[in-house]
Amino acid sequence: MSIMASGDAHPKTYDPLLPTQSVSHNRRQYRPKAPISVITLILLILGLQFIVLPRYVYQISPSEIKLSRFHLDRLEVGLQKCAEINTPPVRYPVTNAGSRTNPRWNSFTGQNETVVLKNVKLFDGETILNKKVDIVFKKGIIESVDTAGKSISVDEHAKVFDLEGKFVTPGLVDLHSHHLAFAWPLLSATDDTNEVNPEMGPVTPQVRIIDSIKAYDMATTIIASGGVTTSLILPGSANIMGGEAVLVKNALRSGENSEEVVEEILLEHGIPISQRRRFMKMACGENPRRVYKHTRMGNAWYFRKHMERAKELLEKQDAWCLQAEVLRGNGNAAAISKFVESALKDESATDYLEYDSSIGILRGKVGVNIHCYETEDFWDMIHHSKEFGFRIQAFHHALEAWKVPEMIKDSGDNITIATFAEFGLYKKEAYEANLWAGKILAEHGVPVAYKSDHVETETNAKYLLYQAATAHSFHLSEDLALQSVTSVPARSLEIDHRVGYARAGYDADLVVWDSHPLSIGATALNVFIDGKDILDAKKTEESLANVVSESGQNSKTPSMRPIIAANVKEEVCKAAEKNGAKITITGIQRSYLYHVQVTSSGNLTMVVDHGKIICFDSDDQCASASAESITISLKDGHVLPGLTAVSVSLGLQEISGDSRTGDGEVKKASFDPNDTVYAKYGIHLDGRAFARARIGGVTRAVTAPLYSGFVDGVSTGIKTTGKNTILDGGIFQDDVALHFAVGQGAKGDVLSTISSEISKLRQILTENAGKDNIYGKAADGSFPLVVHVQNEYDITQLIKIKQDFPVINLIILGGAGAPLVANELAAAKIPVILTANRDAQDTWEKRNSLPGPPLSKSPAAILAEAGVLFGLAIPGEGDPHLHNLPLEASWAAKYAGLSSKDAINLVSRNIEQILGLVVKEETRDFVVFEGDPLQFGASVVLAFDGQQGDVSLCWPESN
Ligand SMILES: *[C@@H]1O[C@H](CO)[C@@H](O)[C@H](O)[C@H]1NC(C)=O
Ligand SMILES: *[C@@H]1O[C@H](CO)[C@@H](O)[C@H](O)[C@H]1NC(C)=O
Ligand SMILES: *[C@@H]1O[C@H](CO)[C@@H](O)[C@H](O)[C@H]1NC(C)=O
Ligand SMILES: *[C@@H]1O[C@H](CO)[C@@H](O)[C@H](O)[C@H]1NC(C)=O
Repeated sequence: MSIMASGDAHPKTYDPLLPTQSVSHNRRQYRPKAPISVITLILLILGLQFIVLPRYVYQISPSEIKLSRFHLDRLEVGLQKCAEINTPPVRYPVTNAGSRTNPRWNSFTGQNETVVLKNVKLFDGETILNKKVDIVFKKGIIESVDTAGKSISVDEHAKVFDLEGKFVTPGLVDLHSHHLAFAWPLLSATDDTNEVNPEMGPVTPQVRIIDSIKAYDMATTIIASGGVTTSLILPGSANIMGGEAVLVKNALRSGENSEEVVEEILLEHGIPISQRRRFMKMACGENPRRVYKHTRMGNAWYFRKHMERAKELLEKQDAWCLQAEVLRGNGNAAAISKFVESALKDESATDYLEYDSSIGILRGKVGVNIHCYETEDFWDMIHHSKEFGFRIQAFHHALEAWKVPEMIKDSGDNITIATFAEFGLYKKEAYEANLWAGKILAEHGVPVAYKSDHVETETNAKYLLYQAATAHSFHLSEDLALQSVTSVPARSLEIDHRVGYARAGYDADLVVWDSHPLSIGATALNVFIDGKDILDAKKTEESLANVVSESGQNSKTPSMRPIIAANVKEEVCKAAEKNGAKITITGIQRSYLYHVQVTSSGNLTMVVDHGKIICFDSDDQCASASAESITISLKDGHVLPGLTAVSVSLGLQEISGDSRTGDGEVKKASFDPNDTVYAKYGIHLDGRAFARARIGGVTRAVTAPLYSGFVDGVSTGIKTTGKNTILDGGIFQDDVALHFAVGQGAKGDVLSTISSEISKLRQILTENAGKDNIYGKAADGSFPLVVHVQNEYDITQLIKIKQDFPVINLIILGGAGAPLVANELAAAKIPVILTANRDAQDTWEKRNSLPGPPLSKSPAAILAEAGVLFGLAIPGEGDPHLHNLPLEASWAAKYAGLSSKDAINLVSRNIEQILGLVVKEETRDFVVFEGDPLQFGASVVLAFDGQQGDVSLCWPESN
């Protein structure tokens, strides 16, 4: 995140991101030196941290009898522990479905009335059932799932919902989250995700995330509102072994007293501690390498050395148990005393608590989950797992797994790939991210789960389902896509006897969706956790008040992106890309162009000659115009203006995590307009984010210089098609706007307070008024002034500036808090480029922003109602999501009740208008899609460069 001020930054060492603070390298060997009591020693040698010793032990008399009694007792306690460590973990319930209970349920605040969901279209964890069903649940357990209409006997007080064919899924399971450990709003005082104190070193399996949990994190309810009912909360990924993870249900205050009690949000609340599932978080590659200044060699050695010791201790435990068994059999008191005494003197005793988790890994009692991205790191870890004899449950992030599915399969361990559907490119390890990865892995039989890595905007777990939907559009089958956020993670975690499925005997975690769960903007209407709906029906209804439901769209399976055979593509594109080609496209269902009037409706034909549309009408009407042309036949063609992205750093930074792949950051100490930085001088016109932009129909982007602090520079307008250099039109507009930043992210060395940012802005406008420089132009309104800002109070400061300097052309970029001052923005005629339509309330300055449906109205709905002129942009670490621009527009339009035309304008004409980009309708870029770009599963067929009059993109999708 380029706008993060270094002094203020929390170490971003939870998952894929980069810490902004480096950890001191001054590391000592950690060995406890304090004297240790006999009792502690015995406890430790057997790893008995849960057993409470009777008090009499403290008053041992020196008499021989009592001592030998003491030794016998110790032997028994030890043997009990031996039995425990040799019991395999409980995998499945011993009872059948009908007699299972939900261990989390309690009679005070638990589900107290039977609920019946009637006429449900059910995805049951495996597939979408053919027939509608009725679901009955009580006391937090699903009692029955039966064909709809069958007479079901329920008590008269049962709450019955007739869902009329609405979709229901099991509650979603997120295999990777950091909420509760690092609560929203994120503050440096509450970042308890990585134990990076150098004294502890990079191997810290002995720490447990449960000790960091804050059972009040406001993110929990927001996450649940996205249908995510179960999450694995993991330590961060700074350490080679980061510590133990824990499973939670996203229902705060779910215990008997409705208090914030850590124990009570645990999935396994109500199950004896010794029977609970345990998980270890580990990390490969870049993170531990960077944080501890190791190489991969060092990472591997630290880990192997640790596991060797764990193995040694395990063997000692086993030997002790074996001998203890024999001695008990023999009953020789003297031998037992001698044996117990010698164990008490064992110098390695203190290691047992420290190595408990690692020994648990070797005993198969602790599931291993590894943050690991690259092919060499998978190989290395699989190698280690064989060397020491443990199973890897899942590789997390794993953005290169698609390259080596067979190698991963060959491990024989059925390793789950818990990955991102599209987040990627943000660091070297993530640079090989492939949008088709889910499909590829599935084809090789590798289980795929999508996970959030929740804690910031980019990884907001509320939108977990969107990843499954994206993967489906890239050809992961409907069932597998839905499984990827339900039963696959549940199986990986070995909790698939309770969650991940909607079947009798399972926990009553169920989500009712307003539309097909893999469609754009699918929203939860009810989220039952342990049988209780955590949503407020009134708020849900209000939040969706503007939604116009299009008939049929709701329940249809969303499309997958069309694929074209390589040879057809080559042939078509070769002909189409010839200068002055004449191209006929049939099967166009909808056009969003203004300058070509279309008289007939539906199934149209468009003829383009030298980049100009010469006919756009019924096939008959265009027959003569299309003579001697190349013909492309579409089924569901859509013609759009080329979209314009306001990018994060497109063309200036390729990998956000590595400054050597970018232009650099503006760090100015003076406010001399002669020193202003111009993005146009740093632009490179190709990279992987460009490729993503192209498949989303984005033909132009506006990029501002990268900056930290208040000072930014002047943005430039570039073409994304990769067809031009800066010498022949690759930059369509040299200078677009002057950018500044205001807010927490803009605090820096030069201006260390937000108040000084505001006064500096005022000063710049005052002092340069009438001057012939870039600040002067911003001051007289002849050049747009874009301010990156989130907080509503900071925005009102800007409104005041606009009141005091009415001629300025002030634009807000970001705008998380804009809906809270929407009327004021409308009155001041300040337009907004909103990056916060599906935002996170992750930072203090954004804590009052709106989480969106089903918890609140959407930001776009409020801005639209207030009459604010706004467009949409996608925030992030770099620009990996540019292909989603039309989908984001669709999502915004759904909640705001906007037409398709207005939706397209949010990411084209509105942006042009706000930034004053000079675009004439007659010469604008236009893009032809196969499929509806406002739904999943559309793909660009051709794009035309409106000014140069040629084909600028031809089937940019690659697979
Ligand atoms: C169930 O509990 C809710 C509060 O959680 C209460 O409002 C309701 O009256 C209870 N219903 C019954 C049948 O006890
Ligand atoms: C592998 O794991 C997946 C998901 O966890 C599961 O569905 C599948 O049955 C497993 N396969 C084998 C062979 O165990
Ligand atoms: C649309 O028009 C094309 C060209 O005339 C024709 O081949 C195609 O069958 C039509 N499609 C539909 C759905 O009518
Ligand atoms: C900035 O440049 C202008 C024109 O080149 C010059 O007149 C002016 O003195 C410069 N300003 C400063 C502060 O150097």
